[in-house]
Amino acid sequence: MSGSGKMKREKGPDVDDSTQAASTAKSGDHKVNPLSPWTYRNVELFELEYEAFFLRRWQFVGHVNEVAQTGDYMTVDLGRDSVIVVRGKSGQLKAFLNVCRHRGSRLLDGRGTCNRVIRCPYHGWTYTLDGELFRVPKKENFADFDQSGHGLHEIELEVFHGLVFVRIKGDGPTITEDFAHTGDYFTAYGVADYVPCLQVSTQVWNANWKVAWDNYLENYHIPVGHPGLNRLLRETDEAEELPSGVSYGVFRLRDKPSSIDVEQKYQQQFHCANARIPERIRHKWVQFGVTGNLGIDLYPEMLDMFQLVPLGPEKTLIRTCYYGHKHPTHEETHLRELNFRINDPVNEEDRVLCERVHTGLGTTGYSPGPLSSEESSICLFHDKVRELVPVSALRDQPLHGQVAAENTRLLNLPR
Ligand code: FES
Ligand SMILES: [Fe+2]
Repeated sequence: MSGSGKMKREKGPDVDDSTQAASTAKSGDHKVNPLSPWTYRNVELFELEYEAFFLRRWQFVGHVNEVAQTGDYMTVDLGRDSVIVVRGKSGQLKAFLNVCRHRGSRLLDGRGTCNRVIRCPYHGWTYTLDGELFRVPKKENFADFDQSGHGLHEIELEVFHGLVFVRIKGDGPTITEDFAHTGDYFTAYGVADYVPCLQVSTQVWNANWKVAWDNYLENYHIPVGHPGLNRLLRETDEAEELPSGVSYGVFRLRDKPSSIDVEQKYQQQFHCANARIPERIRHKWVQFGVTGNLGIDLYPEMLDMFQLVPLGPEKTLIRTCYYGHKHPTHEETHLRELNFRINDPVNEEDRVLCERVHTGLGTTGYSPGPLSSEESSICLFHDKVRELVPVSALRDQPLHGQVAAENTRLLNLPR
């Protein structure tokens, strides 16, 4: 349910159809302090955010089952950076920056299999699957060349229930620590054994990445922005926000049959995946958010990874990967098709909504209005932006060329 929004409340009991708990939550229990509009359009700030949120935090690449054999690789492009994950000779997965140590060419694209080595398409430098520089054509023409110091740049890699994450810079908690006890959900669905069930899809939205993430974080827009989803689902009180920035919320399918054919069919066939999952998660959609750019939507019939990749302050790539059981039943395959037919329009609705917000944020003299309690997660996210990139807390944009310096000054202030 890419970008459909997320509620954040304390973990609590489920509620029945009639209570509509989400819409009755009281406002005023969170700090209402949205980011200033300039922060959504500033190139210099974008560079600081890219470092703090994308280079220094875990990024999703794919599933271990996509790189099952020695030499199998997958890449992910993260704005100006790109990463290779490859299965080495010993069977171990490794992650490298996708850049040749000679003149900087990208090495690999997409997904595939290397024939024993990674070969640069420019001058033919080759690297072993463990990242060591193996062969340099016409090596005699390089003076005093120390081949051993020119292996690929290895970066951190971690597998969480089969999902492969990398971190380009920095340190801090592991992705498993970030998810804390919520890993139980991934065990219940058997995510570690999933395989891709559709090609990765990509789409460019003309909006700042924070507009897209703000949108993912709140469900206030669902009744008006996504009438189909609203017919199909209701929120429950099962939700939690972890200090790491990982959060989850649970939706339940409505009992009342939808008036729309595809939604009604989904409601009717939803039970077909019941045998695979425990009672407590049947008839539900579970949605995880990982601060800043990754949504994980767990359905009984599959999961999707909704990943925001910032291309610039006013452009964001939406990358969606789909995984599910290796041998789905005929009914589950049909349910997946129905899911796509339901969620594709939701994604398109979100694109239009986000682009309209991004355009509106550029309006001269605009200042943000109040946020409802259903948008409290946006406040938490904005607090995180201010914490990691303190210059974003300023109401007015610093002078051109001064954003980084001002940010450094604020970072060095005693806290
Ligand atoms: S850039 Fe890779 S071999 Fe020259
Ligand atoms: Fe949405």
